[in-house]
Amino acid sequence: MEKIFVHSYKGGTGKTTVAVNLASILSQDNEVLLIENDFSMPSFYNIFNCEPDTYFNDYLNGSVGFTEVIVSDIKPNLDVIFTNKTFDPMEKIMGSDQEWFLNLLGRLMRDLKILEEKYDYVIFDSPPGWHLILVNLITLSNKAILILRPNSYEVNGSKRLLEILYKRAKPRLNLDIYLLFNQVPEVDMIKDLEKWAGDFQSDGIKYAGHINCSCQTSYEMAHGSSIFPINHEFAQSLIKVISILSS
Ligand SMILES: Nc1ncnc2c1ncn2[C@@H]1O[C@H](COP(=O)(O)OP(=O)(O)OP(=O)(O)O)[C@@H](O)[C@H]1O
Ligand SMILES: [Mg+2]
Repeated sequence: MEKIFVHSYKGGTGKTTVAVNLASILSQDNEVLLIENDFSMPSFYNIFNCEPDTYFNDYLNGSVGFTEVIVSDIKPNLDVIFTNKTFDPMEKIMGSDQEWFLNLLGRLMRDLKILEEKYDYVIFDSPPGWHLILVNLITLSNKAILILRPNSYEVNGSKRLLEILYKRAKPRLNLDIYLLFNQVPEVDMIKDLEKWAGDFQSDGIKYAGHINCSCQTSYEMAHGSSIFPINHEFAQSLIKVISILSS
């Protein structure tokens, strides 16, 4: 079972769109579990038009077991875990300390191990930046996709994120980190992207390519479709990313 999380230094880079479409594409030939981890700004309920009875929050708070929060067959071969859209800033998850997250990591490791045979892929969407849940995702996963938009501000922020958050855990872990540029203007930026990606390579970060910024994609998302068909340019770019991740 491959465990992949999608992350970025800044918000709004396209993590959720990438995670959801990655899961959708992979579910054509694999059993996939997609897990939402953004507790303050959930969006899966909107994307999948689904409001389940139990949420990831309930599992994290210890009131239900892991399998009880899985919503099966949202699409063929695709199961999804949602976070609760009713955001409560006082909820335990938001204010918890390192010890709480460490306990959670133990539970998650145990419960995912039981599902090892059931799923080929587990995909985690995540909040931007430094939230403590990221330490768990870094530890649990074997691949990370770090998304950034093509500007020096996000390049430098991503470097800091790797330095402070990932590097501490990575030497002890089996984690491959892939850089993915998103929302790239449709002018020739290949040389810029390769140069930036090259700066990360000395730290062992791999380059997974780029996705163009597309007004058509924005327009379709504004009209409620965030999961694209396989012939869509966003899906086609992700298929290239998947082949790099599996090579
Ligand atoms: N390649 C693209 N072309 C055009 N628009 C895009 C592209 N990728 C993402 N977007 C737009 O960027 C916005 C943010 O996308 P998304 O919600 O996936 O980002 P996010 O990183 O999950 O955000 P957050 O950090 O708030 O969770 C969306 O409105 C989406 O339409
Ligand atoms: Mg998101």
